[in-house]
Amino acid sequence: MILAKRDGGELSDSQIDWMIAAYTQGVVAEEQMAALNMAILLNGMSRREIARWTAAMIASGERMSFDSLDRPTADKHSTGGVGDKITLPLAPLVAACGVAVPQLSGRGLGHTGGTLDKLESIPGWRASMSNEEMLAQLGSVGAVICAAGEGLAPADRKLYALRDVTGTVEAIPLIASSIMSKKIAEGTGALVLDVKVGAGAFMKTLDSATELARTMVDLGTDAGVNTIALVTDMSTPLGLTAGNAIEVAESVDVLAGGGPADVVELTVALAREMISAAGVSGPDPADVLASGKAMDTWRAMILAQGGDPSAPLPTARETHVVTAPSTGVLTRLDAMAVGLAAWRLGAGRERKEDAVQAGAGVTWHARPGDSVTAGAPLFTLHTDTPERFDRALAALEGGYEIEDGAAYEATPLILDR
Ligand code: URA
Repeated sequence: MILAKRDGGELSDSQIDWMIAAYTQGVVAEEQMAALNMAILLNGMSRREIARWTAAMIASGERMSFDSLDRPTADKHSTGGVGDKITLPLAPLVAACGVAVPQLSGRGLGHTGGTLDKLESIPGWRASMSNEEMLAQLGSVGAVICAAGEGLAPADRKLYALRDVTGTVEAIPLIASSIMSKKIAEGTGALVLDVKVGAGAFMKTLDSATELARTMVDLGTDAGVNTIALVTDMSTPLGLTAGNAIEVAESVDVLAGGGPADVVELTVALAREMISAAGVSGPDPADVLASGKAMDTWRAMILAQGGDPSAPLPTARETHVVTAPSTGVLTRLDAMAVGLAAWRLGAGRERKEDAVQAGAGVTWHARPGDSVTAGAPLFTLHTDTPERFDRALAALEGGYEIEDGAAYEATPLILDR
């Protein structure tokens, strides 16, 4: 099968079923699956192969059901970005609007941050929950953000960790099947996908992002999940922070009615889509955010998972400030450069067994379009291990541009639906 994909062939349905089952059981070795993934990344898969690969991943585990809840369900999934903390304010916001949110989330993948890694910086908070606990919390609080249980698409859990460290993340068949196997097995009624495009996304062009969006919407629709996708810009990182605890703090700012404008815009846009896909007509999410109700749901959600929403968040032992080399307008801030810097500071992992640092990451003090003054702070780097500063600084080199007297034209955040 490795040779067939390497040489541009197609796998049969039974070959795919066997491969996923055998890998999940440990019969196919990690290095063999890594080679097959690389062949898939390089040579692609047909629509039939993607649908079958997804079905085999769903069949590797159990399927959940939220039919016993008194409210409709909607989930959201991002294909991965830098500074993408949107799930944190979004899940409680949508729950406060009357839709239950079973948000199964992941850990960091490559240079992109993971929702669970961020939330684990909250003292006491735990990511793993049984299906019964998840259902009970959906009934009482209305929102859960947790790790997919052991039994849900176990093939994806192994594959995700393997792809993260073998350069095989950026393949449309592998991303689409990874995301959709979890979402279909989870049993959500509606699903809103945030497909990222640009320097800091796995998809670099609008064409490839649109193809990924279309592939996932088709997989969801065929499985009876009301699925829609937004294609959103990830050439610039979201908000003003990339890391773990520092992104939690920024999310809490949004829930408190503040926070960066782009984070608020995307949170509200995705909330509107989730509520409408779930078939609920209620108050506008922007008003609910302003009312403080979403903050109440956030606190209840963190408490229910053992976290202390009032506890101070961890901070890194060391910081390093990068100042602006000249005066002018910040015309470019590259999401990949920032994501790599945060990752190298310890916000992400280099090997799948590594732990992340809760306090690590990057804060930027200006966004594209802002004026900056020579010598004023442009970035603050955070880490517990200062020997990492040099590599993070190298990642940021060439990752931004300051132009004197330049007219800056802002690009839209939401590019397509
Ligand atoms: N998110 C996932 O769950 N899987 C991927 O492959 C990429 C992003």
